[in-house]
Amino acid sequence: MQLTVGKINSISGTITVPGDKSISHRSIMIGALADGVTHVTGFLAAEDCISTMRCFESLGVTIERLSDTELKIHGVGLKGLKEPGDVLDVGNSGTTLRILPGILASQDQGLFVVLTGDASIRRRPTGRVVEPLRLMTAEIWGREEGNYPPLAINGSRIESIQYNLPVASAQVKTCLLLAALLAEGETEISEPAQSRDHTERMLELFGARIDSYDTTYKINGGQRLKAAPVDVPGDISSAAFFMVAASIVNDSSLRIENVGVNETRTGIIDALYEMGANILLSDQRDVSNEPRANMEIKSAQLKATILEGEIIPRLIDEIPIIAVAATQAEGRTEIRDARELRVKESDRIAALSAELRKMGAIIEELDDGMIIHGPTPLKGARVNSHGDHRIAMSLAVAALVADGETVIENSESIAISYPSFVGDVLNLRK
Ligand code: S3P
Repeated sequence: MQLTVGKINSISGTITVPGDKSISHRSIMIGALADGVTHVTGFLAAEDCISTMRCFESLGVTIERLSDTELKIHGVGLKGLKEPGDVLDVGNSGTTLRILPGILASQDQGLFVVLTGDASIRRRPTGRVVEPLRLMTAEIWGREEGNYPPLAINGSRIESIQYNLPVASAQVKTCLLLAALLAEGETEISEPAQSRDHTERMLELFGARIDSYDTTYKINGGQRLKAAPVDVPGDISSAAFFMVAASIVNDSSLRIENVGVNETRTGIIDALYEMGANILLSDQRDVSNEPRANMEIKSAQLKATILEGEIIPRLIDEIPIIAVAATQAEGRTEIRDARELRVKESDRIAALSAELRKMGAIIEELDDGMIIHGPTPLKGARVNSHGDHRIAMSLAVAALVADGETVIENSESIAISYPSFVGDVLNLRK
């Protein structure tokens, strides 16, 4: 599919963005493992979360869809999953691919599962979960010694571990925390920097106890989970496209309501503040153990910044849209310590550099990031999403300030996380 986007004069209005993807995935996974019925509101009905939902249905979990955004998950308890009759397909969802092995490997009731997904998923590294799960004595295999899917998992009794993650990753942390729930004894996990903590928060909401200090987490096996209502806030990673659009399109004024502002995800706000953006948060509140707020964004002349070190995991998914902001910012923006971008839905460093250059941006590719010089006037071009939803939406925002028309090829990937994106953009034209 092709999406054609032209320049716009200004953005104004009020929107809500769809539910948080990470929290929506977790509501199904943790709801499925709980005792009782979990009522989810604000669920993200996009392809990635639907992949998770289908996997759990195949594992014997009943999920009632009351509407697109409202679900009832009939929990089967920690050890109630059933062996599926076929291979499980995670589609394009890296989160499902990395977390499910932890849940499945610890099911010792005789459960054999094969996990696979689309072409991009079969290039995503899985050694990062296979290695620690094997240290827990899990029975798990995959292509290239477990480094790539398909993965095959045979549920068995597993042991607790002490493990230091080599790279900060919420997917790996979650995989191990959920495996640890069925392991004997106490598991201790440390990560080099704080990654998103939605799992820890939801486990607490469901009555589990996790002791954490800095970036070390301890959890005891054998704790049962009790269903609790989950209201999912708007996804800050989706709001980020509009935060940047309203900042770089002249004469804009935008309100975004009910956005998740969990501190482990707000690196985008910190980065945009640093760049001189005009963003105001109001009405901050906690629901379902997750903070959320309303945002007002007005256009601003942005300036360059340096992003590296501990902030990177707090804005890892927003780097594509920050790169677009940087093309319009005065000076040299440097992004480093972000090598992980090379193994996301696409090689985001290579994809962004190639596609934004076609629109006139000045970008140097680094092994672990990018250097972007601005401000540069962008021009419409024929560009490609590389099958990556966040690249597609970032290019669409770049097109809003580019002269002429931009044609984005393979734009269907937008439905992975934000099916109503194009309609929402159109509604905001003044
Ligand atoms: C996610 C964690 C991050 C993020 C991904 C979603 C999650 O990945 O990039 O989009 O829901 O746990 P890593 O854990 O690989 O950093």
